[in-house]
Amino acid sequence: LTSGKRPPVIWLHFAECTGCSESVLRSTEPDIATVLFDVISLDYHETLMQCAGEAIEEALHKAVHDHEGEFVLVLEGGVPTAEGGIHGKVAGKTMLSTLEEIYPKAKATICLGTCAAYGGVQKAAPNPTESKGCSEALGGALMVQVPGCPPNPISFIGTVVYFLTKGLPELDDAGRPTLFYGETVHDQCPRLKYFEEGKFAPSFDSEEARKGYCLYELGCKGPDTYNNCPKVLFNQVSFPIQAGHPCIGCSEPDFWDEMSPFYEA
Ligand code: SF4
Ligand code: SF4
Ligand code: F3S
Repeated sequence: LTSGKRPPVIWLHFAECTGCSESVLRSTEPDIATVLFDVISLDYHETLMQCAGEAIEEALHKAVHDHEGEFVLVLEGGVPTAEGGIHGKVAGKTMLSTLEEIYPKAKATICLGTCAAYGGVQKAAPNPTESKGCSEALGGALMVQVPGCPPNPISFIGTVVYFLTKGLPELDDAGRPTLFYGETVHDQCPRLKYFEEGKFAPSFDSEEARKGYCLYELGCKGPDTYNNCPKVLFNQVSFPIQAGHPCIGCSEPDFWDEMSPFYEA
């Protein structure tokens, strides 16, 4: 994979917070410099490119034109669809029209983060902009979903490398690679033994919470959430439950509505 021509990647930002890009930039295994200089050719990424204005628009269209049918499209962010998509625009064009124009020209599309995969916080009720996940905005177009708010960089880079070396990974019903989303957070959780023993923390500042007791009674959604964070951790250091915070279900479709309230106390 690190020899020969690096596959082109075009990365579009829609309605989002850029936390997913920030997560990927902190990849350490492999480190992001190796990914960018040896594995892929990142031909367009608005927050990493130095140019702006007309120059960046030109760069996007040149990259799409030069690599039509060859590039991997990475999408970050949900897509406002109300009133023809006018609530989300870049360079005078709606995000919706940009997605409609560029998606058919890609070889494969990966949605990075829950916003791109399922709409994310933009789609939370009452959703005045009628935001949707990218696949839903195109009526159910085939895309690989790598959700999380943000996802772990290992899940994203692993998906890219898998696609480039082996093709489309096996996906679950929510479009996620089972390689990274095949188990619940609960089944991999370091606090699972306390759940099984019926030992639950009664409050966040309790002695029981400090001892590592289960956070289920404080609102933890780990039993209903598919993700690999307990195994791979963020920055190889920690993840929400290890830090004493319940899982809020951030890799599940519509978690802002379906998993709330996040806290029970
Ligand atoms: Fe930000 Fe979360 Fe959306 Fe990623 S999924 S862009 S971290 S709000
Ligand atoms: Fe399951 Fe959450 Fe308890 Fe961990 S803290 S064992 S994920 S309920
Ligand atoms: Fe998200 Fe839950 Fe992991 S909130 S980061 S899936 S512990």
